[in-house]
Amino acid sequence: MTMYNYRDFFTSELAQLHQEGRYRVFADLEREAHSGIRAFDHRAGRRITIWCSNDYLSMGVHPEVIAAARVALDQYGAGAGGTRNISGTSHEHVLLERELADLHGKQSALLFTSGYVANDAALSSLGRLLPGCVIFSDALNHASMIEGIRRSGAEKRVFAHNDWRDLERQLASVSTSRPKLICFESCYSMDGDFAPMAAICDLAEEHNAFTYVDEVHAVGLYGARGAGIAERDGLLDRIDMFQGTLSKGFGSIGGYIAGSRDAVDFVRSFAPGFIFSTALPPSVVAGIRAALRHLKEDGSSRLMLAMRTASLKAKMLANDIPVLPSPSHILPVMIGDATLAKAITDQLMAEFGIYIQPVNYPTVPRGTERLRITPTPLHTDEDENALVAALVAIRRQSSRWRELAQATQPDSAVPIVEGVT
Ligand SMILES: Cc1ncc(COP(=O)(O)O)c(C=O)c1O
Repeated sequence: MTMYNYRDFFTSELAQLHQEGRYRVFADLEREAHSGIRAFDHRAGRRITIWCSNDYLSMGVHPEVIAAARVALDQYGAGAGGTRNISGTSHEHVLLERELADLHGKQSALLFTSGYVANDAALSSLGRLLPGCVIFSDALNHASMIEGIRRSGAEKRVFAHNDWRDLERQLASVSTSRPKLICFESCYSMDGDFAPMAAICDLAEEHNAFTYVDEVHAVGLYGARGAGIAERDGLLDRIDMFQGTLSKGFGSIGGYIAGSRDAVDFVRSFAPGFIFSTALPPSVVAGIRAALRHLKEDGSSRLMLAMRTASLKAKMLANDIPVLPSPSHILPVMIGDATLAKAITDQLMAEFGIYIQPVNYPTVPRGTERLRITPTPLHTDEDENALVAALVAIRRQSSRWRELAQATQPDSAVPIVEGVT
């Protein structure tokens, strides 16, 4: 009798990842709260500089945030103690949901344990329970939206990335009597581009569609109070449901949706991903509330990030580092080959003490592997110069990178970061 060999299966699948240069290796880091951008690398046994954190505004190490979380930890202990319905709702959760609703100009908000869970739970429930629902999804939507939509079982129409004319054609082909959900992101994390949100809102009104926007890479960062691109563009009241994360601009962990009282209450009442999972610890929530309060009132971190981004981008372009066109705080440098991207980031770490994670398939399509550089308000001119010098040195040595770069179009635009206030 032949017996299935589990070990062979796992080793051969992993070998395939190694062969394609896609095997992901964890950095073993200890981030320093006092510097925010440096960490001790346990593998190399030395300090390195982080250039790929999604704690975009360094709120995770902000003194007000740490102090609020510390006080709440002493006051409430380490965990929530249950799901939101069964003993897990603390006053901190109630207050944060009110503050998130206020941020987005909506009646209600609902917390989840991550942004991924928020998308998956909300979209799978909306798509499953809205009768005959059709979901229109941008081609570059995040895996969490794709998964939520898939699990909803609803009919799905993918429109070309940011192409509102394609969306219009597809909306027109579906009967007005059916519920329609338009799902998109406001800032796409791998290319750093923005959605044509006003045009999508116009179409939604015309076709009686429900707009669901993921502002994960924009909340905290754009708009006068940090509500994101919809706030920046004056569109808060034209979006039906916002989804955001608390792990990037707000520097912690968790996700949320915000919308009308009934729509949010519907998700709260029907989404298994919300109902059956333990609530975030109140100390974490208290830290997030401090970050939110700070970012609503004080735009200085946003301004510093915009200035750092513009300055780094200008230096990279001046030194022939092929930054892709990106109007946002995300600076993608195209490599175009998984093995090369990994070799470049290994060299950055080993020779220069610079940590940038390569981004490979399936996060981005094959052949578009890249470095994704994310400045923060805490990086200095010296950090910036060291990064550019390292990239220039590696590029000078790598004929393969120079060859591949000729096929891509670097951003020749004036290095201004749009709309960061
Ligand atoms: C567009 C987008 N949506 C959702 C998520 C998931 O958010 P979280 O990291 O809070 O789970 C991510 C994560 O990077 C993302 O890029």
